Amino acid sequence: MTVHFIGAGPGAADLLTLRGRDIIASCPVCLYAGSLVPSEILSHCPEGARIVNTAPMDLDAIIAEIAAAHDRGQDVARLHSGDLSVWSAMGEQMRRLRELGIPVSVTPGVPSFAAAAAALGTELTLPGLAQSVVLTRTPGRASSMPPGETLTNFAATGATLAIHLSIQNLDKVVADLTPAYGADCPVAVVYRASWPDERIIRATLGTIADALDDGIARTALILVGPALGGEGFAESCLYSAHYDRRYRPQTADSPWSGWSEGDD
Ligand SMILES: C[S@@+](CC[C@H](N)C(=O)[O-])C[C@H]1O[C@@H](n2cnc3c(N)ncnc32)[C@H](O)[C@@H]1O
Repeated sequence: MTVHFIGAGPGAADLLTLRGRDIIASCPVCLYAGSLVPSEILSHCPEGARIVNTAPMDLDAIIAEIAAAHDRGQDVARLHSGDLSVWSAMGEQMRRLRELGIPVSVTPGVPSFAAAAAALGTELTLPGLAQSVVLTRTPGRASSMPPGETLTNFAATGATLAIHLSIQNLDKVVADLTPAYGADCPVAVVYRASWPDERIIRATLGTIADALDDGIARTALILVGPALGGEGFAESCLYSAHYDRRYRPQTADSPWSGWSEGDD
């Protein structure tokens, strides 16, 4: 018996990996985080599967549900939205399961920041503008932040920021970021990326607060940084006609001349 943690993707039912789909189809028990996992994904569960929405449950109850499946010898598909590596609560469940000697596997999913970038048609790392993406959040009612992980510290890097779980703190986000990025810095808010009611609001740090309406209350990402403007960036060396590289040696004495696929 194994508990299979599966990233269920950002919302669109077809943004689930084939591996995730096949594992769901093989598990007689499915636990899903109901607030963000789309119900269409549950259609991959086998007929007669026990399907449990864990949104109203606490950690003890979730582990008890899994332990009961373990006692019955039944595999469990455990679905969380997006990818499991960020804000999935997988860590605390895994720790309990390891203590109980229950085996686990992990199948990644499409994270919401990637779905938001896709919705914007934007690369978040544009040469000369940003080469790092910071996945972060602001403190919430249930979650404090480690002392060094402040928006002002991240702003000092000039990187592209993908700020999760924070649309309700927009005023503070703007106040913390404006000194470093400037009021003209591009911002995009993507609400429910890849869901049918997805919305995109593009503005600047100076205008974003007025550009939003009350409909954008949760399940939104705030993306900030010069790369969001999509202008004024350099071309990468990778595809430059003159760049000497393994796959495209430029001269006969290039260190890459004579190299062929499979040499290393
Ligand atoms: C509990 S976290 C889950 C993150 C998820 N594990 C991931 O990989 O993106 C929930 C937050 O992720 C962001 N989020 C999740 N799904 C989203 C979507 N479809 N569109 C925009 N933001 C989303 C929002 O900031 C939301 O408050």
